[in-house]
Amino acid sequence: MEIFESVSSLRKRLSGEIETAFVPTMGNLHEGHLELTRIGRRQAKCVVSSIFVNRLQFGAGEDFDRYPRTFQEDCEKLEKDGVDILFAPQESELYPVPQEVRIALPEIANELCGAHRPGHFEGMATIVLKLFNIVRPDFAVFGKKDYQQLHLVSKMVAQLNLPLSILAGETVRENDGLAMSSRNRYLTEEERREAPRLHFNLKEAREALLAGKEQASIALKARQDLEGRGWKVDYFEIRDAESLKRVGERTARLVVLGAARLGKTRLIDNLEV
Ligand code: PAF
Repeated sequence: MEIFESVSSLRKRLSGEIETAFVPTMGNLHEGHLELTRIGRRQAKCVVSSIFVNRLQFGAGEDFDRYPRTFQEDCEKLEKDGVDILFAPQESELYPVPQEVRIALPEIANELCGAHRPGHFEGMATIVLKLFNIVRPDFAVFGKKDYQQLHLVSKMVAQLNLPLSILAGETVRENDGLAMSSRNRYLTEEERREAPRLHFNLKEAREALLAGKEQASIALKARQDLEGRGWKVDYFEIRDAESLKRVGERTARLVVLGAARLGKTRLIDNLEV
């Protein structure tokens, strides 16, 4: 695997490539990320990944400083998985001056996770667009675990006419159902045992929806279950899977989304119905 730290050397290397698939990450890679690189591999001859912990998408008091940085292990995993090129810039390479130009997103970016992490999606979309402009991939792969992120990136690509296709990877789970996430490593042993409860509640909600039960009471039951067990619930909601808006007459498909804190760790997950 070739590793590049500068925009200019990466661009030079990529200039001869005919078709590339890109998997942007913030590192601390797990099977969920690797699955995305395999999706990329099925689409394009050249697979490019990036590792960059993007300060812009972390709010004040969030975990930017303690976000796990495991560069050597990550390189070994990507190499073993057959990724061709890794872009791993320093912060000064991507933000040589304060990033004043930002991406304005639709209102939905201020709901769900956006309501609890102000500015997060603006910072995420800004770095993703910068990375797209640097790598200029034909395909970019994002995981469904970050459902709202996937939605917003797909919308940005469509509405800004970016010349690439977004591919979605299914959420990869531990044996007990917990969605894989870099933040799982913050959990204490006791919290780790409790953590699959979020997925359990999503499954219960999906079954209740399929059985035709009333949506508001399904979401309330899940929230009460989690809160009763010590979670601090940011949201547990049933939404339109296409628009992420509240369910309306035009809704054809549903998604159940949840975000909740267990101790100091914020976990998110979702299930399509
Ligand atoms: O999902 C992530 O890891 C990040 O939000 C991304 C897409 C790499 C942008 O920093």
